[in-house]
Amino acid sequence: MQLLICVLLFGAALVQGRHEKYEGHQLYRVSGPATEFEYLEAYLDLLSTKSAARSTSGQLEALVRLSPEEKQKWLPLFDKKNMAYTKVVDNLADVLRDEEAQINRARHNSKRSGRAISFNAYYRHDEMNEYLESLAALYPGLVTVINAGLSYEGRQIKYVKISTTRFENLRKPVILIDAAVHAREWVTPPVALYIIHQLVEAVVDRRLTEGIDWIIIPMANPDGYEYTIDEDRMWRKTRSRSHPEADTCPGVDGNRNFDHHWGTREASKDPCSIIFEGPTAFSEPETRIIRDVALQNVDRAALYISLHSYGNMFLYAWGNNGSLPNNALALHLAGVRMAEAIDRLALDKADRYIVGNAAQVLYFTSGTSRDWTRAIGIPLTYTMELPGYEYDFIVPPEYVEQIVTETWAGIAAGAHFVLSIW
Ligand SMILES: *[C@@H]1O[C@H](CO)[C@@H](O)[C@H](O)[C@H]1NC(C)=O
Repeated sequence: MQLLICVLLFGAALVQGRHEKYEGHQLYRVSGPATEFEYLEAYLDLLSTKSAARSTSGQLEALVRLSPEEKQKWLPLFDKKNMAYTKVVDNLADVLRDEEAQINRARHNSKRSGRAISFNAYYRHDEMNEYLESLAALYPGLVTVINAGLSYEGRQIKYVKISTTRFENLRKPVILIDAAVHAREWVTPPVALYIIHQLVEAVVDRRLTEGIDWIIIPMANPDGYEYTIDEDRMWRKTRSRSHPEADTCPGVDGNRNFDHHWGTREASKDPCSIIFEGPTAFSEPETRIIRDVALQNVDRAALYISLHSYGNMFLYAWGNNGSLPNNALALHLAGVRMAEAIDRLALDKADRYIVGNAAQVLYFTSGTSRDWTRAIGIPLTYTMELPGYEYDFIVPPEYVEQIVTETWAGIAAGAHFVLSIW
């Protein structure tokens, strides 16, 4: 019965026509110097950026969404600047309609019973919260669910604390993980939920819970996420309206809203840009939740990972200027350990993971959670970009299991690294 209700709810939400706004939008792979993308980021929807040909030449390659009007304006500009481009998607609306059909099929086929969730489908915010609550009820000695606060639109943001010692053993390191700060990166919450599942239900490696306390926020931006299901699949930001121009351009990029060199980049000042930093640092209730839990645990927090999609990367500080933190060697080493563990299980067609300084691998950013958590004193902090294969962040549900499995191997390797240095 419960399953039926959920399928109906999800199905009902996916109404005909909500993808029409992307009719005629095309995706282009564009390559050029990093500085160009640093500029373009303020004006265009860059779905992902990575180093071109995996080289260190400072050349990047980005997947760019262009509306018909944008196409008229920007393609000639790319030509003028000698930036190569190829069209990879002819009509984004078709891709989104296909995805929707596939997801509805996956929901019908996935066997979700009351408490279990499967890893071949996507879930709504309420269903994720139900799963967390069911774990807390079943494993009261191990799992605590915290109602951390409400999103801008009033949704309950929950996180789980997993500990064999009720967070009372102050010698244990803490690992902190968040997901879905960017709403459209749908594959990130399943990864967070799978980590919880492995630690609590599967328990293949007791050292990871006996030696470490975990805090996992599987749905950091529920307003944005629900909006991607019901209204606009490409939405990235929060849904807040507490800044100038919010009526036409609501929402803030949560991963530009942290108080680290906040307000220092021109590209993040425009409320209508997808990388809008917000009216003030920590203007968003969603980022304040991450801030508060990080600060509460800063003495013991050893590793912070913000899950994003996509690009197969572990990026570390400093994103604001490209210089390296004093523990860069450890940051790099731990990143490589995680990357290697993932690459061992990765699909042949997947890109190998890149580990590096965010600004050197890509370009400058300000106000990221990765830099802020490093600055407050958490030694190992990363933005992790999961795989998208040829689908970008429109990852079909049948790849979820692969991604959660390989990523768990990486997280477990990171956890073992933490145990070895703590
Ligand atoms: C780069 O920024 C970091 C803070 O993010 C700062 O500690 C460091 O001194 C800066 N380095 C240079 C060379 O400006």
